[in-house]
Amino acid sequence: MALPRVLVTRRWPEAVERVLAARFDTTFNDADRPLTETAFVSAMKAYDAVLPTVSDRLPSGLFDQPGLRTKILGNFGVGFNHIDVAAAKAAGIAVTNTPGVLTDCTADLALTLMLMAARRVGEGERQLRSGEWKGWCPTHMLGSQLSGKVLGIIGMGRIGKATARRAHFGFGMKIVFFNRSDVDDDETRAMKAEQMKSIDDMLAASDFVSLHCPGGAENRHLLDARRLALMKPGAYVINTARGDVVDTQALVQALTSRSIAGAGLDVYEGEPAIPAGLADLENVVLLPHLGSATSETRTAMGMKVVENITAFFDGHDPPDRIA
Ligand code: DGY
Repeated sequence: MALPRVLVTRRWPEAVERVLAARFDTTFNDADRPLTETAFVSAMKAYDAVLPTVSDRLPSGLFDQPGLRTKILGNFGVGFNHIDVAAAKAAGIAVTNTPGVLTDCTADLALTLMLMAARRVGEGERQLRSGEWKGWCPTHMLGSQLSGKVLGIIGMGRIGKATARRAHFGFGMKIVFFNRSDVDDDETRAMKAEQMKSIDDMLAASDFVSLHCPGGAENRHLLDARRLALMKPGAYVINTARGDVVDTQALVQALTSRSIAGAGLDVYEGEPAIPAGLADLENVVLLPHLGSATSETRTAMGMKVVENITAFFDGHDPPDRIA
């Protein structure tokens, strides 16, 4: 029997590409250039599985086409707000993602951003590299410390909890959080983490606010100008979730007027373009969507996709099916 035809939309870690090549009739994107929408439609007419990722856009219009052959989209990534999942489902296409394997890596990066923003690491390095450093003195580039501060987490799922764990047990931070459903488990109790009734209350109580909720319509601009104004003057916003969760222009305003102390961002509205105004500010740390960027994690993400599409083509329900 012919092997399923599979298209991988970007380059993946070599070890995973080898498994895909051995198991399926796989086409790789050797040039590693994102596909256009037209190329996506052609791909969905020619392949049994398409394996997209965060940098791809799959709006509803792509699924309205006649003669689609694709039966599964094995997304390389846990976030799937770049795929119109309802439209894929209506077209009879299964969609899977890669939960669980990015947890530690992303939480590590949230802590990295907290430390970088609070200790002015990017600013210090820029000063030194540009030859502007005049030497140690008691008032040079003072930041703030994490120990004893309050960390507010929005979205107490796997990554939110892993971030809270590091902050509480590693840095002695007090944890408060907002989550739509009740969270009451041993881990959260061990951290003495306090679930707050509203995002507004949580913002007002926090010295650092770290976002761990999904992107997409339901959370678009959840952190807007009104909510940013509720934050303490010395507070920091940390975003490793999705760019559209924050109203970036309102954030630029808050950072410029110093109504908050700083921010650490790994994700952007409309990335890879960087929203206007951000790059001019010293009190924001900007990383290029590195949350899951370790060899171990990217390989594990790829292997999750392999597991999902293998189950699907073997006639089983894929373990990480979202539609
Ligand atoms: C994801 O998997 O959604 C991440 O943003 C990739 O780092």
